[in-house]
Amino acid sequence: MADPLFDAAWKAREQAWCPYSRFAVGAALEADDGRWFAGCNVENASYGLTVCAERAAVSAAISAGARRFRRIVVVAESDPPVPPCGACRQVLVEFGPDLLIESANRTARRSWHLRDLLPDPFKSSKLAHD
Ligand code: THU
Repeated sequence: MADPLFDAAWKAREQAWCPYSRFAVGAALEADDGRWFAGCNVENASYGLTVCAERAAVSAAISAGARRFRRIVVVAESDPPVPPCGACRQVLVEFGPDLLIESANRTARRSWHLRDLLPDPFKSSKLAHD
């Protein structure tokens, strides 16, 4: 059955700004109210300022007021489908470790739960407020 979240991620990927890696990525983050928010990777000549598609989708979602999420879909033409990088795992876990991560290329899919990709994350409860 067609899954609109994958369609949204592939569509977002078309907008990827990736002149350095030439590795285009799209992501779509589904909120618990059914809305979804898409993003693509945005590279920069300074390289280190690159924003991954997953974090672009998080920014779009948070900017629209969404706070709770069910799953994120990531698409690229890698084989096997890519898992999110460490920075994106940390940004995603801010909103909960139960997130389902689904990653696809044109022919294959993989999935994980965020808690399995990032066990024992740094989180706000570990901040040493007095
Ligand atoms: N990238 C993503 O956008 N998401 C991932 O899950 C893996 C990596 C981007 C960052 C950079 O623009 C390019 O892919 C190569 O690393």
